[in-house]
Amino acid sequence: MRLVEVALGERSYPIYIGQNIWHEIPRHFAERVKPGKSLLVSDETVFPLYGSRMVEGLQKAGFAVSSVVVPAGEGSKTLARADQLYSAAIAAGLERRDLIVALGGGVVGDLAGFVAATYLRGVTFAQVPTTLLAQVDSSVGGKTAVNHSLGKNLIGAFYQPKLVWVELETLSSLSQREYLAGAAEVIKYGVILSEALLNLLTARWQDFLAREPELLTAVVGDCCELKAAVVAADEREAGLRAILNFGHTLGHALEAATAYGHYLHGEAVLAGMVMAVKLALGKGILQREAAATLLEMFGRVGLVSPPATLLAVDVLAALKHDKKREEGRSVFILPEAVGRVGVFADLDAEAVQQVLGCYLSGGSARG
Ligand code: NAD
Ligand code: GLY
Repeated sequence: MRLVEVALGERSYPIYIGQNIWHEIPRHFAERVKPGKSLLVSDETVFPLYGSRMVEGLQKAGFAVSSVVVPAGEGSKTLARADQLYSAAIAAGLERRDLIVALGGGVVGDLAGFVAATYLRGVTFAQVPTTLLAQVDSSVGGKTAVNHSLGKNLIGAFYQPKLVWVELETLSSLSQREYLAGAAEVIKYGVILSEALLNLLTARWQDFLAREPELLTAVVGDCCELKAAVVAADEREAGLRAILNFGHTLGHALEAATAYGHYLHGEAVLAGMVMAVKLALGKGILQREAAATLLEMFGRVGLVSPPATLLAVDVLAALKHDKKREEGRSVFILPEAVGRVGVFADLDAEAVQQVLGCYLSGGSARG
């Protein structure tokens, strides 16, 4: 088992990562959280697969367990669903020191984390992420949120868990499409922070696709370590943490312009990363050879085509509603070399339109 620490002073916490580590849950959970009442939150896909093992682990640790299962998918990230969870917490008699556990992907993690942050002004929280995206990204760093009808993740809180438990065995049931969407986030870490991670992925791409356990432990562990260091340096995104949004400026705009119905998050981020590389090339801040390396890597995951009806004007309109804009300008994270990025708010609209037009008209990842 690999252990990564998120160093945040008194709120520091461990991320445990391993294959088939279910039996170690009782010891580590009881070590980190005083056993009492717990509320296990999961979704309709994940709970039948892994709910009983999680309940068993928590019970062996000495927790009384109540469960609440929400529909799978982004539609569950609402205040109405949060209200259902508050009711379940009240019915279970959860007190301030008791535990809420999220078992599922980023949707369950964000929703349960938001409820943990706000119920009784904050109860103890643990993340048990079951998608690749959640294991390398959403379960680490304390961002929690639900959506508003006017935008995604508009209502939320920074709230760190007491521990993150990454059982890699759960990835065995994940669809290939979801796995590849998570792979886009894995590659993101390589592009922004670690040439070594990209080299490892390149050398062992077939093993990565085959979800080879030892490699996954290394890759997921490296991603968590990279994210943990960024979060430790800038928990509330005052500066450095923004680099984690590489590919997200145009990625989010694509998701919003397609009403979150066409792309998985990682798929939109991948398209955003391709466009960011092309923007960096055009701006003259990235060498052609480095750009080719990055585009080749993105090509391995496979770029999702936009819907034929999607218009650049709609994506650009969505870009204007990005909550991370600064003084009315979109902020782009652009690669400067393999493993290094910078933050830019000075891109001209024409350059953005050009790379977007290229993607919408079917320009390839290698183009
Ligand atoms: P998700 O939670 O919707 O999971 C994707 C699908 O996979 C769901 O249908 C789920 O039921 C299913 N699933 C989950 N684990 C499975 C498993 N082991 N086997 C089979 N099926 C499984 O989506 P996601 O991609 O994990 O997360 C996306 C969400 O994460 C978005 O809401 C996004 O906003 C959020 N997010 C948050 C952060 C953060 O820092 N908090 C970062 C990135 C993304
Ligand atoms: N997913 C971006 C962040 O956690 O900051």
